[in-house]
Amino acid sequence: METRRLDADRMGIAEAAALLAAGRLVAFPTETVYGLGADAGDEHAIAALYAAKGRPARNPLIVHLPDAEWAMAFGDLGELGERLATAFWPGPLTLVAPRRADDGLAAAVVAGGASVGLRVPAHPVAYALLSAVGRPVAAPSANPSGRVSPTEAAHVLDPAAGLGGRIDAVLDAGACPVGVESSIVAIEGDDMRLLRPGGIAPEALEAVAGRPLAPAPASEGQGPLAAPGLMASHYAPAARLRLNADAPRPGEGWLDFGASLPDAAAPAEDLSPEADLAEAAMRLFGALRRLDRVVGPGGAIAVARVPDIGLGCAINDRLRRAAAPRG
Ligand code: TXA
Ligand code: MG
Repeated sequence: METRRLDADRMGIAEAAALLAAGRLVAFPTETVYGLGADAGDEHAIAALYAAKGRPARNPLIVHLPDAEWAMAFGDLGELGERLATAFWPGPLTLVAPRRADDGLAAAVVAGGASVGLRVPAHPVAYALLSAVGRPVAAPSANPSGRVSPTEAAHVLDPAAGLGGRIDAVLDAGACPVGVESSIVAIEGDDMRLLRPGGIAPEALEAVAGRPLAPAPASEGQGPLAAPGLMASHYAPAARLRLNADAPRPGEGWLDFGASLPDAAAPAEDLSPEADLAEAAMRLFGALRRLDRVVGPGGAIAVARVPDIGLGCAINDRLRRAAAPRG
């Protein structure tokens, strides 16, 4: 199959919406990363989505809606979840909550579970597309399972590291402004758990909720996954990563932060010479891809320290997973 690139203008958005409504797979931009969309009520489309990504069936999908009111028809957010939704939707927050009866979602979307992940993205093109489809759209990040998430349409179209040739189209709106995936918060009555750090600083979530975030369960074994993004080896580049490095060793690439070593001789990228965490998040996956290409499959990338506050929590989480031994 040839994967078409569609401009994110009125015609392209209308065409992407028509493809989704017809059960096809279309990648589209959000403020975090590109998602691979499919009609969340269409069993066949969802099966095709899992197949295109090579995604394990026990890993559920986030359901995307254009507005909070519609999202709340799919999950019981409770008082705490509604407070978070009001503060952060539209935006890079996914809320996991008990799913409602007769929601019309294909069973595979929730991987047979009793909860559903809901997200209202802030990107104007995502909003226009979701409004035009008029259906809930399931959308994991538009990468082969376990690989680095795409922050540009070209990453999606890449036949090797992306999904080129395996999906119908990608709606191209340029680079994603946040650059790391949404924060995932599970609502558990009056308590909340951070299943995945992401585009919203954990400190901001706690400030609005007025209570601490419980950490994700450390389950790595069999059985249903609390947040399978928790699988240790994820976001895997071909190269090996060495974290919290002071400098590259001979032969290593160098991923810097805050110009800690501006004269490194290695092939180098700086996530943010000004040490701005939002800029670093935006550039993270693109920089990993570029360095990965330069150092090659047998190579290694040394990574400078990134502060573990605000968006740094999401950046360090992705770096740790990218560095984890491959399963
Ligand atoms: O920013 C994002 O969240 C992007 C854009 C496209 O919206 N999407 C994304 O989807 O990152 P994905 O599938 O790559 O990661 C979603 C994570 C997975 O680890 C999945 O296991 C978890 O969310 N998840 C989805 N539904 C869940 C549920 N009902 N309970 C627990 N975890 C869930
Ligand atoms: Mg993903």
